Amino acid sequence: MAFQRSSFSRFLVLTIVGASFSIFVTACNSKPGASSKTDAGHSLSGEELYIENCAVCHGEDGKLGASGAKDLTESTLSDNEVLQRINEGKNGMPPMKSALETKENVSAVAEYIKGMRK
Ligand code: HEC
Repeated sequence: MAFQRSSFSRFLVLTIVGASFSIFVTACNSKPGASSKTDAGHSLSGEELYIENCAVCHGEDGKLGASGAKDLTESTLSDNEVLQRINEGKNGMPPMKSALETKENVSAVAEYIKGMRK
C-alpha cells in the first residue's frame, strides 16, 4: 500500500489507538473486582479481540495496511501459518501471543480474520 495516504493512515492509527485505549480502560473500570487482564479479555469475541489488538495496523476491514501490514482479505496463508503469524509475528508485525493471552483467543481471532477473505 504505497499510495499517498501515509498521513491519513497515521491519523487513523492514532484515532484507533486512542479508541482502543479508552475501551480497555472502560473494560477494566467496569469490573472493580477484576485484577488481571485475563478477566477483562477472557469473554471477548474474535471480532472484539481483533478490533482491540489488530485493527490499529490492519484496519477494521483488514485492508488498512498501516506499518506495512498485509491486506488480510487477500491472505492465502494456511491455518497453521495464520496461527504462527499471530503468535510469532513477522517483520513489522509484532508477536501477539502475550497480548491475546490464551490459545482460545488466538484461535478466535484467527477464525475471525479468515472470515474476511473473499
Ligand atoms: C503493529 C502493526 C500490526 C499489528 C498490531 C498486527 N499486525 Fe498483522 N501484520 C502486520 C504486518 C506489518 C504484516 C506483514 C508481515 C510480513 O512482512 O509478512 C502483518 C501480517 C499479518 C498476517 C499475514 C498475512 C499474510 O497473508 O501474509 C496475518 C494473518 C496477521 N498479520 C494477523 C494479525 C492479527 C490477527 C493481529 C492481531 C492479533 C495482527 N495481525 C496485528 C502488522 C501488524
